[in-house]
Amino acid sequence: MPRVSIDGTEKVFEVKEGGILYDSLSDQGEELPHGCLSGSCGACRIEVVSGKENLQPAGVIESNTLESLRGEFTEKRGKDFVEGKTIRLACRAKVNGEVCFKPIK
Ligand code: FES
Repeated sequence: MPRVSIDGTEKVFEVKEGGILYDSLSDQGEELPHGCLSGSCGACRIEVVSGKENLQPAGVIESNTLESLRGEFTEKRGKDFVEGKTIRLACRAKVNGEVCFKPIK
């Protein structure tokens, strides 16, 4: 089973391959920040610290939300905040292998 860890903590979770990141952690008692749980509000945004290749590619809904989030971050926090970062939505991202991430506040 793939292992998912939260950067800066000792938290490590074994998750079902192909499972949605948010759901997999929630099932184990780890409640991540969230809103709509359908990929449109962006509240569950995370930065993938390592293992981005182990997440299934973002679909249309997630991609659209990520695009607007990146625009918002660039505007409010500057280009450096988003450059080189892999941002995903925990409520949409499906896990295929080891991943380390941290929520973006
Ligand atoms: S909770 Fe709204 S996009 Fe994930």
